[in-house]
Amino acid sequence: MSIHRFYTKTLSEKLLYTSFLLLVGLGYLMAISYLYVTHENNDGKPGLSISDVASSYYGNRSGTRLEAAIRGPMAGFIEEEDRMRMVAWLKDGAEEEHYEKEIKPILAKTCLNCHVKATSPNLPDFSSYAGLHEVSKVDTGMSMASLLKLSHIHLLGISMLLFVIGFIFIQAEVNVWFKRFLVVSPMLAVFVDVASWFLTKWDYHYAIVVIVAGGILGLSMALQILISLYQIWFLKRPANPADHPPLT
Ligand code: HEC
Repeated sequence: MSIHRFYTKTLSEKLLYTSFLLLVGLGYLMAISYLYVTHENNDGKPGLSISDVASSYYGNRSGTRLEAAIRGPMAGFIEEEDRMRMVAWLKDGAEEEHYEKEIKPILAKTCLNCHVKATSPNLPDFSSYAGLHEVSKVDTGMSMASLLKLSHIHLLGISMLLFVIGFIFIQAEVNVWFKRFLVVSPMLAVFVDVASWFLTKWDYHYAIVVIVAGGILGLSMALQILISLYQIWFLKRPANPADHPPLT
């Protein structure tokens, strides 16, 4: 198949390419904004950072919210001995078996003055084991099922999108090695990005790879879109046919 430059296209083709590229560009910006607002507070601090990415895939495994609370802001409501008993229970897996006898009486002393749904609907509810369980789990990040779901949607969806964008972009007149590089790099970046989600779930140090691969994907996609849009409308047909040898 020989490739023709944009100036050989009909107006209908140019309009089709242009509207598609603009919509994809907008969609990409929406995706980035969505990522920002849903992840920026993962680590409790404003602004998206490596630790937000790490905590979303790897979780925060240094302890449970319950332990952090009784060592921190809730420390004043619990006696030293009770705190040690509660921490030991957490370390043993926070099983329901020992909850009734060992933990419930501690909660009843002071915690339940505040932590019941009826009086404070916004606080964790400790009137049942289920409520306490919510804050006694170690956060191990995104579940395998969510990760697989997110991965297959990204791999199937983005590869289709990149195929169409790339199909338009190869009709641009640029250095042939640059063109080949730009066609392959976002595909490779999607693969590395998705793979690094799994790696980050296993070891949080890989969070940096998630960010770098995501950046390369965005950058190369943006370049393909912008170069195509520019050449669709502004690349002039040379007067002398010898000035436009076949595209590669
Ligand atoms: C005087 C009311 C009061 C008492 C008593 C109290 N809490 Fe709280 N607790 C709060 C409030 C208010 C918050 C939410 C604000 C915050 O996180 O500091 C909270 C938050 C928490 C959280 C959630 C922290 C998070 O990660 O979001 C836990 C866990 C908790 N308390 C445990 C306890 C335990 C265990 C006790 C008993 C030893 C207890 N609290 C006693 C008022 C109380």
